[in-house]
Amino acid sequence: MGKQITPKVTWVGKIDWELKTFHGDELSTHRGSSYNSYLIKDNKVALIDTSWIPYDKEFVNNLKQEIDLNKIDYVIMQHNECDHSGALVELMREIPNTPIYCTAKGEAIIRGHYHKDWNFVNVKTGDTLNLGETTLTFVEAPMLHWPDTMFTYMSGENILFSNDGFGQHYATESLFNDAVDSTEVYQEAMKYYCNILNLYSPMAIKKIKEILAMNLPLNMICPSHGVIWKNNPSQIVETYLKWADAYQENQITLVYDTMWQSTRLMAQAIAKGIQEADKNVTVKIYNAAKDDKNDILTEIFKSKAFLIGSPTINNGYSYAIAGLLEMIKGLKFKKKKAACFGSYGWSGDAVKQLSIHLQEAGIEVVNEGIRKLWVPDNAMLEDCREFGKEFAKAL
Ligand code: FEO
Repeated sequence: MGKQITPKVTWVGKIDWELKTFHGDELSTHRGSSYNSYLIKDNKVALIDTSWIPYDKEFVNNLKQEIDLNKIDYVIMQHNECDHSGALVELMREIPNTPIYCTAKGEAIIRGHYHKDWNFVNVKTGDTLNLGETTLTFVEAPMLHWPDTMFTYMSGENILFSNDGFGQHYATESLFNDAVDSTEVYQEAMKYYCNILNLYSPMAIKKIKEILAMNLPLNMICPSHGVIWKNNPSQIVETYLKWADAYQENQITLVYDTMWQSTRLMAQAIAKGIQEADKNVTVKIYNAAKDDKNDILTEIFKSKAFLIGSPTINNGYSYAIAGLLEMIKGLKFKKKKAACFGSYGWSGDAVKQLSIHLQEAGIEVVNEGIRKLWVPDNAMLEDCREFGKEFAKAL
């Protein structure tokens, strides 16, 4: 059912407690998510975004409890990935002539998904829609994170509807950021930024600065996933500016895969050396085949440097590391240093190949890496420890 969040705005979305993966299996969502949709009742009535396809009927039925659908004057579609546009078919079946306000790219995407000839109205940055006492102003935000994305600012109640921007995959019945565990929310907001938005960081900085320059009063930021930023909404804007600017903490992360434990032993010895060289740095170790890939990527996002380890297999590196490397490449991390390590039996190609591919991904590889034959003995592990020390000192 709907939840009134201001005198004129009611949240009419869906809280999805059981969602565990998103984008197919691309993104883990341990804490569920929500598909936030907002109903604005002024002299005119506008609906902002809908819900994901599996909940389309539930969404429309719940919406009917809030309003006679024929009283909706405008449907605003800020971004048309199916987690937000998925209930459009069900909704538009009931109100087929209601105009859908979206960017030109948004119209193309809706047409490409649903193949319907609805009443589209294309909007651009600066276009406005008067609802009576309040006015909506549209701001295109292409590639944050799709070409069609736009934000919507509501005057009077001073709300920025930001769609995926500032969102988190975080299910809560409480809706507002001041009513939930802020550590959890920030973990999920960072994971969301890292895995979905990081590659578009230059656009994020530009768009945030453009919006800040408008000097709009801001009471609330209403994203399309997770909590509404009601208490000090600018906190997440300021945090985004930090995250978008080659973010790093004093952390070094080691990620490895291992077949018979040799590469794991190397990882542990390297980590020991790093800690001996720098007692203040946070060192974390993950097994790429066992730990969650998106959590690992978020740890790399937080790190000033990272190490990747893989045994040589089939003259290359492991499946789990290959998948992770592809994601590192895609997310375009900036100003991170790295090195590679791994055990081998004969060809021993993994370390060299990993180093080359990390460089191709824009990562600064600080040395040639270290590899050890078969099972490392104490002397070999001592080498690894020294390698860790030198790595930490070189940062
Ligand atoms: Fe939440 Fe890009 O869809």
